[in-house]
Amino acid sequence: MKHVGTQTIETDRLILRKYEMTDANDMFQNWVTDPEVSRFWGWEPHKDILETKSLLSGWIHEYTDLRTYHWVIVLKNTLQAVGYIYLNEINEADQSVSVHFLLSRKLWNQGIVTEACKSVLEFAFNTIDVKRIHSRHHIDNPASGKVLRKCGMQYVQTTYMHYPDCEQISGNYCFYEIT
Ligand SMILES: CC(C)(COP(=O)(O)OP(=O)(O)OC[C@H]1O[C@@H](n2cnc3c(N)ncnc32)[C@H](O)[C@@H]1OP(=O)(O)O)[C@@H](O)C(=O)NCCC(=O)NCCS
Repeated sequence: MKHVGTQTIETDRLILRKYEMTDANDMFQNWVTDPEVSRFWGWEPHKDILETKSLLSGWIHEYTDLRTYHWVIVLKNTLQAVGYIYLNEINEADQSVSVHFLLSRKLWNQGIVTEACKSVLEFAFNTIDVKRIHSRHHIDNPASGKVLRKCGMQYVQTTYMHYPDCEQISGNYCFYEIT
């Protein structure tokens, strides 16, 4: 794989770019405080913007590693940060990565994450030279599966996953991949 770090990607409606410290307010307003958004993640909704700033500062620091692919999703028409998409679980041996995403609830079901995810898959295959991309979603979160299928990913299997530190997200997960 050819690691190049988080490069800006532009689509019809979106700019995917590196986080900046000034995104803290949009994050706080748009998603980190919303329990519906965090329901299938292992984190608690933020109560104070200082928590958000601290998280953000850590994420920004990670960009010094060119194996970090973590984009904030910005709407072109408002320039607001409304969610994120990232690649991780980088496996050099089989040249695979996984993709994960999240969006502010007020924007769900407008095709935004599908638009973001398609562009990130293209970037992974064409720029990083990834050979396989996989993902998974909790069985009670079918909208995520819909996004993955709309991006051309194939269903592989459903497997129970136990997260001892976070019972809230333990359960059956549907796995997808694209090569
Ligand atoms: C899952 C999520 C990322 C989807 O983002 P989005 O921008 O709304 O997705 P899209 O609009 O591109 O596609 C969503 C699709 O799911 C469908 N959908 C929504 N709710 C659904 C449900 N309960 N059952 C089945 N399909 C559903 C929508 O109709 C849409 O399909 P369509 O375009 O054929 O109508 C967003 O809802 C989210 O951030 N949720 C909270 C965080 C999260 O769960 N992240 C994923 C962890 S794996």
